[in-house]
Amino acid sequence: MNSQKTITGFSKLSKLGKIKWLVENFFKDPESVMHELKSYWLENEADQKLLDGISENTISNYPLPLSIVPNFVLNGTTYCVPMVTEESSVVAAASSASKFWMERGGIHAEVVNNLKIGHVHFYWGGSEERFDALFEPMRIKLISESKPLVDSMEKRGGGLRSVSWKSFIAQEPGLFQLFVEFDTRDSMGANFINTVLEQFSTSLQDFFKNHEGLNTEEREVDVIMSILSNYTPDCLVRTWVECPIDALGTFPGKMDALTFAERFYHAVRIAQVDPFRACTHNKGIFNGIDAVALATGNDFRSIEACGHTYASRQGKYQSLSLCSIDQGMFRFWMELPLAVGTIGGLTSLHPIAKRSLEMLENPGAKDLMMIIASAGLIQNFAALRSLITTGIQQGHMRMHLNNVLIQSGATEEEKKSATLHFSDKTVSVNSVKSYLEMLRSQRIKI
Ligand code: MEV
Repeated sequence: MNSQKTITGFSKLSKLGKIKWLVENFFKDPESVMHELKSYWLENEADQKLLDGISENTISNYPLPLSIVPNFVLNGTTYCVPMVTEESSVVAAASSASKFWMERGGIHAEVVNNLKIGHVHFYWGGSEERFDALFEPMRIKLISESKPLVDSMEKRGGGLRSVSWKSFIAQEPGLFQLFVEFDTRDSMGANFINTVLEQFSTSLQDFFKNHEGLNTEEREVDVIMSILSNYTPDCLVRTWVECPIDALGTFPGKMDALTFAERFYHAVRIAQVDPFRACTHNKGIFNGIDAVALATGNDFRSIEACGHTYASRQGKYQSLSLCSIDQGMFRFWMELPLAVGTIGGLTSLHPIAKRSLEMLENPGAKDLMMIIASAGLIQNFAALRSLITTGIQQGHMRMHLNNVLIQSGATEEEKKSATLHFSDKTVSVNSVKSYLEMLRSQRIKI
């Protein structure tokens, strides 16, 4: 092992010290890498400090584009939706699908419910019947001892919504769980939930230790952990688009509306029956969801974990979206659990997340649930529309061409000429480079 590649006390080095150690031990050209990493620091020191504080061992910033999707009409309100993504065709697809549905009545959404869940997982040697008999006084103790922690959330209209219990002793001897539901209003509420659960754990242990009438064995409880669940099936939002089939219009290759609707329906059916397709289908949905979640400072990993768990709720991984063709109407919809926040956490810390929320007219958590889910639905619509008409590569290749042209330092004039040239040809890095060389050599000859 190369000893210079390991270090103790790294976190205590200054930012420059960290970079210096890194570039000297992991790069061939330390000077220029140091210069490059520093070039991404923000000029304003206070802003940079704020970003550094979001994570640990920070050395630089990792810029990603902030894009917007205009013409996003949801429940009659027109939004400009912020997206942060590294995938080039995502924003173009969302923009075109937004406009498509803007002209057909817009997108619709409603929040079904907004509950978050947390658990205390513990082992206890007694029976289910015995636990049930003890539960009411235990529940009263848990609620009363957590009161000081819940007070301010209650003042905001949220708080504890239910405390119940589950036993898993059929699968795992001795395993029980406190099952707690919370309303965290406009915050994602992770810290609040985990704090209350840890207090529940203390109260639970105290209950077993001190409750009269328990024998020595019954006093023994082993709390393994107290943690929220990212699976929140009762924090559910529904989003849909619909229009008469005739109003769908025509599609590339002169595909008529009915053919389109039927092919679209079949594309969704395939994702319902085949988990391999469902995975990619749902990935397309999360292309939209994650991009808005990231732009608004929300935790896209928890959103994805929850969404994929929900997609498996029937014992098999399936498409999150559904489609129907009924009495001349085309309907495309999705129900999805989505735990998001518009206050607290990164939403109030990250300057661009704050602006993104302002762009969305400072939504509450329920409004943001509808916006994010709808972004996922129309992203899915755009992907399926391409897949069942032109194929996905046409759009992707246009974006790919653009990226290769930028990487090759093409001028505006060269970009125009290449776009025209490649409109009916296959794009590859080599073919674009040869084309640019050809253009440039012609210019020299002139
Ligand atoms: C690519 O990021 C997403 C798609 O593959 C989604 C899909 O196939 O539905 C285009």
